[in-house]
Amino acid sequence: MNPKNIALALMGLVLFTSHAQKRIPEVEQLLQKMTLEEKIGQLNLLTPGGGVATGAVVSENVEAKIRAGKVGGLFGVAGPEKVRVAQELAVKKSRLGIPLLIGSDVIHGYRTTYPIPLGLSSSWDMDLVEQAAQMAAKEATADGINWNFSPMVDIARDPRWGRISEGAGEDPYLGSKIAKAMVKGYQGEDLSASHTMLACVKHFALYGAVEAGRDYHSVDMSKIKMFNQYLPPYKAAIDAGAASVMTSFNDVDGVPATGNKWLLTDLLRDRWGFDGFVVSDYTSLNEMIAHGLGDLQAVSALALKAGLDMDMVGEGFLTSLKKSFEEGKVTEAAITNACRRVLEAKYNTGLFDDPYRYLNTKRPEKDILTDYNRELSRKLASRSFVLLKNHNSVLPLEKKGKIALVGPLADSKENMLGTWAPTGDFRLAVSILEGFKNIAPTTEIAYAKGANISDDADFAKRVNVFGPRISINERSSKDMLQEAVALAKTSDVVVAVVGEATEMSGESSSRTDISIPESQKRLIRALVETGKPVALVLMSGRPLTIAEEYEMPVSILQVWHPGIEAGNAIADVVFGDYNPAGKLTATWPVNVGQIPVYHSAKVTGRPPSESDAFQKFKSNYLDAPNAPLLPFGHGLSYTTFEYSNLKLDKKQVRQGEGITATVTLTNTGDYDGEEVVQLYLRDVVRSITPPKRQLKGFQKIMLRKGERKEVSITLSPDDLKFYNGQLELVSEPGEFEVFVGTNSDAELSKSFTLK
Ligand code: BGC
Repeated sequence: MNPKNIALALMGLVLFTSHAQKRIPEVEQLLQKMTLEEKIGQLNLLTPGGGVATGAVVSENVEAKIRAGKVGGLFGVAGPEKVRVAQELAVKKSRLGIPLLIGSDVIHGYRTTYPIPLGLSSSWDMDLVEQAAQMAAKEATADGINWNFSPMVDIARDPRWGRISEGAGEDPYLGSKIAKAMVKGYQGEDLSASHTMLACVKHFALYGAVEAGRDYHSVDMSKIKMFNQYLPPYKAAIDAGAASVMTSFNDVDGVPATGNKWLLTDLLRDRWGFDGFVVSDYTSLNEMIAHGLGDLQAVSALALKAGLDMDMVGEGFLTSLKKSFEEGKVTEAAITNACRRVLEAKYNTGLFDDPYRYLNTKRPEKDILTDYNRELSRKLASRSFVLLKNHNSVLPLEKKGKIALVGPLADSKENMLGTWAPTGDFRLAVSILEGFKNIAPTTEIAYAKGANISDDADFAKRVNVFGPRISINERSSKDMLQEAVALAKTSDVVVAVVGEATEMSGESSSRTDISIPESQKRLIRALVETGKPVALVLMSGRPLTIAEEYEMPVSILQVWHPGIEAGNAIADVVFGDYNPAGKLTATWPVNVGQIPVYHSAKVTGRPPSESDAFQKFKSNYLDAPNAPLLPFGHGLSYTTFEYSNLKLDKKQVRQGEGITATVTLTNTGDYDGEEVVQLYLRDVVRSITPPKRQLKGFQKIMLRKGERKEVSITLSPDDLKFYNGQLELVSEPGEFEVFVGTNSDAELSKSFTLK
């Protein structure tokens, strides 16, 4: 054996011993009793069809399969009574009585939905994110769910991709903090407590980098980019103790994630030390056939050997692993290992102690849709809104005079929850019209639809797969527009609620044109022409291209899809009961051609001029600036903040030392308000080309009008590190520049040297 092999063998021994030490006696005893078929059965996750079928297959004969010990878990079943039926089948009718995992997609709230994750991330408030996840877990577990297919931590830098709505945006530092907060919120301190559930980090990995923003497309990325930019949030979730991981649909380095040994074993288990279980995405195992990796038996064997433990819906494991074992293509040890991991998760949730632990019929009424939860959802929503622009300080509105509330999303409950809210009920949502009336009951509020979300019937049909989200009015567009304009002319101010319907973003909802649909653009233009003050309340599941609207004399409040309390929360902010403080977590491009455009891009060897004016033979465009319309971190307030006096506590830092930046923040405007102070770092010289700047710290600060505070942010030694060409996490000596300010264009800067 050469020295390298000896080292590897020793490492294996250590790994083996550490795994062996952790083994759970109850699980080991159970494994002894299990037949090969029963072990394979535990690797099978089915849905009887109660949830959203996002692929071709909905499982058949589920009951018979549970009785036969051929099912390890279910999703799409909810409510203590229904789950009890399934659980009793497993516990009382199958030979070994092993309880089922009960999964669900609780992406932004269970019944009390709250803003889509991209919106929630715009709060930059980790306590609130954790509270949100806690509330979701409490409600879902009250309904019998013990496993959540969340958090979705895919970094996304392409707003054409509809699923950018489901994540925390473009930044690995912020994304990692949010991943951690969500895992803590779902799992709590004790996985077996009745109000906590298993988290499932998804989609491992790199799903947010699909080519051209087209869903399910291919991903091809250097390891350096992966490690520095895309992998950190997954790792943060795992370091926070996430119990499970879901693979992604895309390939990585030419191998679909679901069968990718480098991802699932070398990286996830061996390098990161993950000891939970890995589930495929919906039929992503079978999809390896279409990817070109062989037939169902071949891809199932490949995936098992790569490190996949559970097969969602596809039944590739169920129908082919035994044959592969008999033909010597997989070992029993590999099947046992996968089964062990699934059983360990069941053990950790406390299901072996009491399979009915999440099935208390009194809990739904007590824990779901409570006043407290709705209040929290309202708070989460108002904290997620981003004031993009406030022309002439149109906002906040006074609660007097006559307000024209127009637009196709102003009185639309069906578009308030946002994508991936299958457990929510939009009929319970507060529309914006209702919210305005609740908050400003004595103000005259007159409504007109003004336009359809889109006039394109074919487009509407594609969006409307889960029911009418875009309804095309029987009246002509001209009629609707005229009515709205007439109303605007007799009002003091116009609030136009425009943007995307719920299902214009989310899974399988990629767009190549991410502007506001033409029907609504016409409405906006006509409203502006009336000369009345206009505020746009903009709703979307992604950054949009709004260069035209941004140039207009309007105010723009971005509200994403806010959830069940939409209308109340929007009214809270529009009327100034809460001063908005959200900040964008994904860059808003000028046009689609700039994509991908993100704050931590490289500067290149030919950076354009400071002013961003076109220069021949520089890295720029003939027909658009390099700068986006709105940078990462952007977001205004009704008040104004001034940054001054940036200081570092040292000029030189030794390896292993941290450094603290302090800035003076003054509220110079007329309202109390919060500001997210952001710190960006540029590693000026290093062995691989550095990003222009990277977010490395932030703090959300509340300041009364006229108040001033010193705000300090400390960089830890780890914050100075990056993955080098050998994928080692290092910090290299040399100069660093620190920028502190209100967004990623922060101008105040100071330098230090790392020795
Ligand atoms: C999605 C996952 C989801 C799963 C189960 C898939 O289509 O990609 O995010 O968890 O369906 O509903």
